[in-house]
Amino acid sequence: MCGIVGYIGEQQVAPLLIQGLKRLEYRGYDSAGIVVSKNGHLEVRKEAGKIAELEKLIQAEPVEGWYGIGHTRWATHGPPNTRNAHPHLSEKGDFAVVHNGIIENAGTLRKLLQERGHVFTSDTDTEVLVHLIEEVYTTGEGRATESLERAVETALTQIEGTYGIAVVSTRDPGKIVVARLGSPLLIGVGENGETFVASDAAAVIAHTRDVIYLNDGDMATITKGGYTVHRPKHGPVDRPINRVDWDLSEVERGGYDHFMLKEIMEQPETLRETMRGRLLEEEGGVKLGGLQGMDEELRQAQRVVILGCGTSWHSGVIGEYLLEDLARIPCEVEYASEFRYRRAVVEPGTIAIPISQSGETADTLWAMREAKQQGATTLGIVNAVGSTIPRETDAGVYLHAGPEIGVASTKAFTSQVVVLAMITVHLGRLRGTLTQSRGREIVRALKQLPEQVAEILKMDDEIKKLAEQYKDSKNFLYLGRGYNFPAALEGALKLKEISYIHAEGYPAAEMKHGPIALIDENMPVVVIAPKDAVYDKVRSNIDEVKARGGCIIAVVSQDDDELEKVVDHVIRIPRTHDALTPILASVPLQLLAYHIAVLRGANVDQPRNLAKSVTVE
Ligand code: AGP
Repeated sequence: MCGIVGYIGEQQVAPLLIQGLKRLEYRGYDSAGIVVSKNGHLEVRKEAGKIAELEKLIQAEPVEGWYGIGHTRWATHGPPNTRNAHPHLSEKGDFAVVHNGIIENAGTLRKLLQERGHVFTSDTDTEVLVHLIEEVYTTGEGRATESLERAVETALTQIEGTYGIAVVSTRDPGKIVVARLGSPLLIGVGENGETFVASDAAAVIAHTRDVIYLNDGDMATITKGGYTVHRPKHGPVDRPINRVDWDLSEVERGGYDHFMLKEIMEQPETLRETMRGRLLEEEGGVKLGGLQGMDEELRQAQRVVILGCGTSWHSGVIGEYLLEDLARIPCEVEYASEFRYRRAVVEPGTIAIPISQSGETADTLWAMREAKQQGATTLGIVNAVGSTIPRETDAGVYLHAGPEIGVASTKAFTSQVVVLAMITVHLGRLRGTLTQSRGREIVRALKQLPEQVAEILKMDDEIKKLAEQYKDSKNFLYLGRGYNFPAALEGALKLKEISYIHAEGYPAAEMKHGPIALIDENMPVVVIAPKDAVYDKVRSNIDEVKARGGCIIAVVSQDDDELEKVVDHVIRIPRTHDALTPILASVPLQLLAYHIAVLRGANVDQPRNLAKSVTVE
């Protein structure tokens, strides 16, 4: 969603805000802006489009000052243009706000304020908030008029919805007031009295690794002297300083053309990091520190409900197959957005597993809260350390895949499946449904994955040639069976979200119940067909496609000499345990989507209309 950054200190603020916004650009790139307070006046610079456009504007119209706030937008209310870009100013222009989230009662408040003479210049929900802050500060009673933080606190009592906000004002200068409810926000504790605020650590890591994650309902006031965190009606609260364990190079492209390609190529290493210190080969088990003390609960568990969105939902489907097949525990995977509002039944003994790369996806967060509220034990599978979901679950497992900047998730997906496989081994061994020798088989296969993925990545040029052949296709169909049905879904999503080609993933057998009507010589069909338990079934599905003149790209096992005689192209992957084939099958499909998108001139790292972490419902 949107990205927020702020700074107070001795340095010139504008370049720092721009640098911070660039690191947050993957959160939204419809427009960007900053406001700097100078000589009792708020100087706003904002522009539609990427941060580079804003940078050009500031070069043409420089702005100086030692504190200010900035924003990069993912449009929810009002089209992407300069008028709707943040920061938004109040009626008299002496209050400015940047906001990440949605104000659900903006319409009502806007009417109320218009009746009091306020004039709005944008279509956004956010502008209502800054007018309201000015209103309570100038016409309010009692404490609301005391200070900027009191005015913000009072205004927020009238707001319904979610927010991460930063506010500055000439009426109470020299401070930034921030507040969060539903959208992530942190304080970056710098040296020499410098303090940053940001939506995530990527924006401050160049200056400090010491960050304070604000909780929902927290507010903070940042001045040159430092910061105080407080909660309305409770007063000051202490929040721990966390040390961010990754460094700047991890949020840089490191010589690759795109973050997506860097993150695809990093997978041998990220898979090693995900498994580091967690595999117990001899015992045929795993050691997951984040699940310590949960054994009895896991042993008694009656059912697992997996919650996620997009790519995280796809890894969740593989998790469902793993848990039922190998740990023999009933499991469902739910679209988080549907689960939250469909009055799902959560019986006692339910383990809810929210899966989220960012740990901030609103649908998954609220679905997890719903399951928790109904009595489920919550186990998070998350990549972003310190994000909201892991701070609210009962236990969990971090991916340790490092920051994922490319909007299209790649390394997080393969690490999510590895973590689901490890949780399955843990549950199976704990509940006696998985023998030591079968456990050992899976653990050994897991250990081989990094090298096998490195093997596959060597086919990059070959896959690029294939992409050249299919870059002008209008549609694609992806088919898989068993563990590879969700891999087909994921392959199709990767192509859709970065190349804008319409693509559908389907269970291979389901095709003859409709989609087969789409098959002709113009429909490329990707079939995931490793030599696993359902290989023969997939073979017949391939024959059905060929019979209708379809053009097939098949992902096959290295030692398969049969299929290349039947299909148009083969991509070979090493043999592994059936349950882990989706990991190996997904990597070449990530590359195929990547190269097709690059050849079509699409912005691979920042695909249109998308954002890396969707923090609104
Ligand atoms: C995947 O490439 C997309 N970026 C998107 O579908 C993503 O998986 C989804 O928004 C969930 O994000 P999360 O894992 O951070 O919760």
